[in-house]
Amino acid sequence: MFKKIVMFAATAATSLVLAGCAGGGAGSGNGAGGGTQAPADTRIGVSLPSQDEERWITDGKAIKEGLEKVGYQVDLQYANNDIPTQQQQVDQMLTQGADLLILAPLDGTALSPQLQQAASSNIPIVSYDRFVRNSADVDVYVTFDNFKVGAQQATSLLIGLGVLNKDGSEGSAKGPFNIELFGGSLDDNNATFVFNGGMSVLQKYIDNGTLVVKSGQNKLAQVATENWSQQKAQERMDNLLTASYSGGTAKLDGVLTPNDSVARGVITSLGNAGYGPTLSSQPKPMPVTTGQDAEVASVKFVNDDVQFSTVFKDTRALAAQTVKASQDLLAGKDPEVNDTKSYDNGSKIVPSFLVPIQPIYKDNIKSALIDSGYYTAEEVAAGRLQ
Ligand code: BGC
Repeated sequence: MFKKIVMFAATAATSLVLAGCAGGGAGSGNGAGGGTQAPADTRIGVSLPSQDEERWITDGKAIKEGLEKVGYQVDLQYANNDIPTQQQQVDQMLTQGADLLILAPLDGTALSPQLQQAASSNIPIVSYDRFVRNSADVDVYVTFDNFKVGAQQATSLLIGLGVLNKDGSEGSAKGPFNIELFGGSLDDNNATFVFNGGMSVLQKYIDNGTLVVKSGQNKLAQVATENWSQQKAQERMDNLLTASYSGGTAKLDGVLTPNDSVARGVITSLGNAGYGPTLSSQPKPMPVTTGQDAEVASVKFVNDDVQFSTVFKDTRALAAQTVKASQDLLAGKDPEVNDTKSYDNGSKIVPSFLVPIQPIYKDNIKSALIDSGYYTAEEVAAGRLQ
């Protein structure tokens, strides 16, 4: 490995090659800006959580394409939401001679033996979107601003209820509004950042009575959704409706939903209980829901007035940044970062690069997602990638 780094650094010094910048849609990497041609025998192992969510399929395609464009060999594996499978896959990447690992761990703490083995062979590790915890062996974290994602979801919920105007000023609606809270998966550090971001905005409105969490469930441990599962979210929403909203006594006005798959589970449950089908249906409009990832099925929901908002995290930008970080690490350089404070993994503060996020409402689907080439208008209309 060390020999490879030296060889690569020498090659890099003499043969600077501009990486291509093809503007593909969701799932197309932008390539690495200003990168260098990698030696063809450099292998990069990429381990992602599952193919159950469109988000990770899109990430996988963009990373693979971006890395291959600058000449690396890529071993991309999905762990099927199963921790032992992910451990085995990473073990295998190491056995097969990976020179760098890009990891989105299912459980941030579960890959320690693999990380140690990688570190003892000087194999750099990029923590990709999901945070590697309790390990000093991770070199860089490339992600979106997860706290901001949560704060944005909460702001969107307040806008949907009319408590805030779109420009952030106080709206005319005073409530009280009945809401429920959902969180992500407890083993995923992002779930904590997203939930804390959300509560940083909502707490004040809960305290002053504008918002009422009728179930009383307002701690992440109570509202979490294992594996961010759509099915589990639907089941919890069914239970909440039975326990706190049955018999026509109370109407649910909004649900803080932490990502698009959870939102779809919640929306299915609400639809079955007679809410909706849209945000303006009478007598029981679909409650205001939020999201994350701008998955195409949920963007269609936003477009059709079923889901109020989502948060766009441009996986093309994340993949491009990851390719750059990989190139730097393989060349023995420090990768670009923009946050050296927020992400303490228990063993060290991991230098991080946070890619910006963007809220999505019905009125900016075209400019943010279609005009930027992330989706075609047909894909949004159909609610699936074509
Ligand atoms: C990611 C989200 C994703 C969720 C479920 C999180 O770690 O940041 O974008 O929706 O995992 O896969």
